[in-house]
Amino acid sequence: EKPGLELAVVSVPSYACQRHTPLLHHNTTLTDALSILAENAELGENEGRGVAFRRAAALLKSLPQEVRGAEQLRGLPCLGEHSLRVIKEVLEDGVSHEVETTTHSEQFKAMKALTGIFGVGAKTADRWFREGIHTPSDLQRSGHTLNRAQRAGLQYYDELNLPVTKPEAVAIGQIVERAVHAVLPGAEITLIGGFRRGKQTGHDVDFLITHPDEGREEGLMRKVVSWLEAQGFLLYQKTTGNSYLESKEGPARPASNMDRFERCFSIFRLRTDNEGREIQTGTEIQTGDGSQTYSPTLTNTDPHTHSDTHPHTKTDSHPLPQTLVVVGDHAQKVSWVLGHSQCSGPRSWRAVRVDLVVSPYSQFAFALLGWTGSKLFERELRRWAVHEKAMTLSSHALYDRKRTQYLRASSEEEIFAHLGLEYIPPCDRNA
Ligand code: GTP
Ligand code: MN
Ligand code: MN
Repeated sequence: EKPGLELAVVSVPSYACQRHTPLLHHNTTLTDALSILAENAELGENEGRGVAFRRAAALLKSLPQEVRGAEQLRGLPCLGEHSLRVIKEVLEDGVSHEVETTTHSEQFKAMKALTGIFGVGAKTADRWFREGIHTPSDLQRSGHTLNRAQRAGLQYYDELNLPVTKPEAVAIGQIVERAVHAVLPGAEITLIGGFRRGKQTGHDVDFLITHPDEGREEGLMRKVVSWLEAQGFLLYQKTTGNSYLESKEGPARPASNMDRFERCFSIFRLRTDNEGREIQTGTEIQTGDGSQTYSPTLTNTDPHTHSDTHPHTKTDSHPLPQTLVVVGDHAQKVSWVLGHSQCSGPRSWRAVRVDLVVSPYSQFAFALLGWTGSKLFERELRRWAVHEKAMTLSSHALYDRKRTQYLRASSEEEIFAHLGLEYIPPCDRNA
């Protein structure tokens, strides 16, 4: 009679890549609990345990209705002993003791806060935690030598931990498009990552760039980054991949399937007006009393990432309580609503993490599939390929080990077909 009893007889496939996993589902109380334990395992560098909790959570996300009792879980895959115990506890008591203990633990809180700094991984955070550093402020006071990424991460800590909204992602996309088309007309830009899966917010914005004429994309990233830097759009960037371009004596280009994509981890300086719209380059911004003129191409607080630092940039981290206005024909008030620790006054821009990837056209479908996520969905695709099909899937290619050949694809649909899987659209890859 219980409405959910039929769940037990519905057969649910065990790989997340065989299932539709929408963004919104019916079991968030359970999946939130499991996600905390997964996160804790990952922060403790216990990857296997993390994956087990993630798989259990993903299974629950794919169910067509709310689980109300443990008896409904009979026969379902992916639910290990530990996950089942946690699920039962939440179903019976509303909370799990282990989850509560974890979220309140000093170590978990500190590890989350420290790995929340861009450029800081679990290993580094753990080392700092053992030294008594529990917060970004502790770290700042510690006088530790930080690398360039970590300095930027600390400087923009609060902003980078604010979710990026869809309108902000769209605004970033317009900037990326302008940059890419300025240096390579005809190039194609695709929004990837969580936003492609339909998420309304993200921790960053991800883009894949390619060009229909194979080869034209070579060296593109450096040109795009130069353009963005010249326009004052970048607060930080680190570009990797295809390093042979750096010197003419560099190693020969490896076979195409061995390529590592050119990619760029960056922090954008996204100009915003009070509607969250990006302000066009060249717009003059003045403080209310007209005492300071901000040239958007020069305002930059990090002397390490930008050579022509503006003398007034100190006001970015310690602004006077002024209202910034956009002067010109469309003068309007600019209000900055972010709660930056060092910045209580209004500001006309925010920092946003952006990932850029360039792929050759022939690998585009693989790159698109590989960078759309979710991370667990990707992991499950690769696991399916290896264990069920004797194939190796990467963001570059699909290799059939029985036929000893690469399988070409120009769309994600073709890759799913090669893998013998039903096509799962991006919005259902939220495993
Ligand atoms: P949010 O950004 O938090 O909204 O989620 P997201 O799903 O967009 O996550 P993220 O930006 O971290 O990654 C997007 C996708 O890119 C995921 O599927 C990752 O697996 C993939 N990805 C991230 N880093 C790498 C990498 O170094 N190599 C490859 N091949 N894929 C990566
Ligand atoms: Mn992302
Ligand atoms: Mn990313």
